[in-house]
Amino acid sequence: GKVAVLMGGRSAEREVSLMSGQGVLKALQVSGVDAHAFDPAERDLSDLKREGFDRCFIALHGRYGEDGTVQGALELLGIPYTGSGVMASSIAMDKTMTKRVWLAEGLPTPAYVLVHREHLGQVSVDGLIKALGLPMIVKPAREGSSIGVTKVLTAEELPAALAAAGVCDADILCEQCIVGDEVTCPVMGAGETSRALPVIRIVAPAGNYDYQNKYFTDDTQYLVPSGLSAAEEAAIEALVVKAYQVLGCRGWGRIDVMIDGATRKPYLLEINTSPGMTGHSLVPMSARASGLSYEALCCQLLASATL
Ligand code: DAL
Ligand code: MG
Repeated sequence: GKVAVLMGGRSAEREVSLMSGQGVLKALQVSGVDAHAFDPAERDLSDLKREGFDRCFIALHGRYGEDGTVQGALELLGIPYTGSGVMASSIAMDKTMTKRVWLAEGLPTPAYVLVHREHLGQVSVDGLIKALGLPMIVKPAREGSSIGVTKVLTAEELPAALAAAGVCDADILCEQCIVGDEVTCPVMGAGETSRALPVIRIVAPAGNYDYQNKYFTDDTQYLVPSGLSAAEEAAIEALVVKAYQVLGCRGWGRIDVMIDGATRKPYLLEINTSPGMTGHSLVPMSARASGLSYEALCCQLLASATL
């Protein structure tokens, strides 16, 4: 049947999604799938039904794509789609909600304070620093690709960081900064069959794995094998699988983790339920290291599409 690769969309990550979507579209087409691009920002999703699409590969990132809304629309249309369902997508889009679930399950994630944009006037800079220390990470609760994120080094920088995150989202997440190794690990499958792909260690220029260093510079180093000890890798893999399972994710996801340089304790940062598939993206890199080509990865994900 006909497959729609959903790409573009209305989020701040639209450009990233178009890169992901083009990659997926080409991979499916060379694999013999009758795949077509479909941009929900330009078309009505109900056209999918009218035009005879019988499955969707979701290559959208961020709001209205990764957050359960498109998933809900596809449920109503009865069209199977790749990745997590409505609830897991919606929780995973919200970094605060995600942390609450992980904490309730006893999984480690950095300490945080949630600030609402309407209350920015009453925020005590000293209070936040007392609670979380410096450096501190300030980010929009529901955004991706590091958009609106600041690593705050001094008290003077904090108000501007809060304001910058507040432009992207009414919920501003202030987080303890874990200094150490930055790693990421994809998970595929669902429930008991969920399994981790190889861990990637990210070494970005000056430790800034930001939008530019994610997609446009060639200055970020990606290490796979990660160079961590086998025991540490195994612990990360077990942790991310648990983190994925407790959220009820399915299909695929990528969990970002920081390892404290001093204690070697891993902390879960967030989960991406529609991870990037661009030429610089990490899931394809990890899959390749496990012997799975970009094309095979796309075909496997498509085969896992469900309602
Ligand atoms: N949010 C981007 C697309 C990622 O996590 O890969
Ligand atoms: Mg993300």
